[in-house]
Amino acid sequence: MNKLILIGPMGAGKSSIGRRVADSLGLPFVDTDQVIRERAGVGIDFIFEKEGEAGFRRREEAVFAELLGGERAVIATGGGIVLSESNRRLMRNGSTVVFLETSVEWQLARTRRSHHRPLLDTPDPAARLAEIHAMREALYRECATLVVSTNGRRVVSVANDVLAELRRIGFSGDAS
Ligand code: S3P
Repeated sequence: MNKLILIGPMGAGKSSIGRRVADSLGLPFVDTDQVIRERAGVGIDFIFEKEGEAGFRRREEAVFAELLGGERAVIATGGGIVLSESNRRLMRNGSTVVFLETSVEWQLARTRRSHHRPLLDTPDPAARLAEIHAMREALYRECATLVVSTNGRRVVSVANDVLAELRRIGFSGDAS
């Protein structure tokens, strides 16, 4: 079944944009990070602390596979979803994938007050974001059906662009 998956780095606005797009399409909205938090009953920073990044990635893979096998939905993902070959393979299997492209400058502006992103718990978040960007950019592009830039833009404007692009390629909220 054709899911709509939003990918992109931390601070791209995947959840807020995804929620709006889902409302407009009349589809349910789910967020992998939120499901992981609910299942674990603790925050993502706590999972990183207790199980390391590897433990978090195992949880992320399991939740992602389950959501892709479930009902039709708009799925917002964590920024690292593309690191796993298994996640990338699942995305290629009949889903529409929107890459929310975001510069490191805009990511910094949007994550400045965030206290729940363990990967940014470092003295130099800008350098960390640039390093992550360099490692993942090609993976996001490889998975993307559509690429929409979010730089300097409001959620509503990006969501409207995503909806217009979806109409252009014939994606609709009705079952397909
Ligand atoms: C991560 C991004 C986070 C969250 C975790 C790891 C990453 O999600 O999954 O902290 O590896 O980029 P957001 O992209 O929603 O911030």
